[in-house]
Amino acid sequence: MSTKSVIVALDIGTTKVCTLIAQKNGHSLDILGVGSHPSNGLKKGSVVNIEKTVQSIKSSIEEAKLMAGLDELESATIGIAGNHIYCFNSSGVVPVKNKDITQSDVDRVIEAAKAVLIPSDREVIHVIPQEFKVDNTTGIKNPIGMFGSRLEVNVHIVTGKTPLIHNLVKCVEQAGLNANSIILQPLASSRSVLSQEEKELGVVLVDIGGGTTDVAVWKDGSLLHSQIIPVGGNHFTNDLAVALKIPHNEAERIKINHGTVAASRINDTFVTVQGLTGTKPREIPVSMIGDVLGSRAEELFFVVKDIVNERGLEDEVTGGYVITGGGALVKNLAEIAEFILEKPVKIGFPQAFGGMTSAMQHPKFSTVLGLLQESHHVSRATAREEGDTQEEVEVDMFDKIGRSFKNIFKEIF
Ligand SMILES: Nc1ncnc2c1ncn2[C@@H]1O[C@H](COP(=O)(O)OP(=O)(O)OP(=O)(O)O)[C@@H](O)[C@H]1O
Ligand SMILES: [Mg+2]
Repeated sequence: MSTKSVIVALDIGTTKVCTLIAQKNGHSLDILGVGSHPSNGLKKGSVVNIEKTVQSIKSSIEEAKLMAGLDELESATIGIAGNHIYCFNSSGVVPVKNKDITQSDVDRVIEAAKAVLIPSDREVIHVIPQEFKVDNTTGIKNPIGMFGSRLEVNVHIVTGKTPLIHNLVKCVEQAGLNANSIILQPLASSRSVLSQEEKELGVVLVDIGGGTTDVAVWKDGSLLHSQIIPVGGNHFTNDLAVALKIPHNEAERIKINHGTVAASRINDTFVTVQGLTGTKPREIPVSMIGDVLGSRAEELFFVVKDIVNERGLEDEVTGGYVITGGGALVKNLAEIAEFILEKPVKIGFPQAFGGMTSAMQHPKFSTVLGLLQESHHVSRATAREEGDTQEEVEVDMFDKIGRSFKNIFKEIF
């Protein structure tokens, strides 16, 4: 099998590193291999130990290669998050001299929007067009071919700290792969979990991972805002470990098997928990677990609410909130979120496609599946741009993300 027809996605998360290998099959993708290995070298989404991270990546890649029956892989699309990520909106304007707008005008106006002062220790990861304006007409998705004299664009710019981006890329390279593009994790999760209708209507994606909670706000098909909160499922587990005075792995087991965030609704049943070394197992009321996890959940959703409200976006999210990531599975989380956010909330599962097993339809795989889909979309759009007439991919705003980054990526590394 030619390595050109293979796509690799790598989600280097705080709790697990996940590798997916898929074969491009025209419009569709077939998953050939999956590897998932515990991640030991990250904290709150950022690499803090290169050696441990490389080991986790290597194990995950080996597992996926074995399943796919492939010996060699060249490059991968990788996800990025961490609380060093900072995103903001910008705009640009260029004259177009009363003529049909071309790709080069679009490139120029995006360059103009990028011309903002960025601290020297930061790099731009994405410049994502939100809408174009041609003269006085607003809300244009694709201005190419339109007639006008002035072209404007609003963009969403995603930046990250250069050393932390470098560390991530270094880990991937030391594990034997080139990082061919980097995608902000909530963008990837949005790709696999949200429908186009939801993005048009207005929706907030909330990806609760182990170390971070990643937020992406969509409206009219455009990304209005994204932000990484340095709190995730691990904080729920830690709270339980501290409150119940139990080891971390026991707290994780209790959270997954008996966890709930709705203390008041529980008729007190009891569960047995193993204490710290030297102490006897104890009976704990489930309502106590609900109190601890419920407080953390409330705090997290108030932060999410503030992020949306502070930007005046609360009325834009008609479609409500979609919670995904492994941390979304704590029992009753959607109910408590709905109460705090005052909007409909549902758990987001990744949409199925070729070769995907039911085990993969888990919110913890939303990011890696989105990375794969986005990488496929970008490679098809690029092939079409390079003159491959077989490719008829519709070019949307999101197409620009991977490719614009690809260029920037070449400049940085
Ligand atoms: N069934 C479950 N019930 C409750 N929590 C769960 C369940 N399954 C996984 N989790 C939690 O999900 C979290 C891990 O989620 P995920 O795999 O999405 O994170 P990650 O991608 O490794 O981390 P990050 O994206 O923050 O870097 C852990 O805190 C884990 O306890
Ligand atoms: Mg994750």
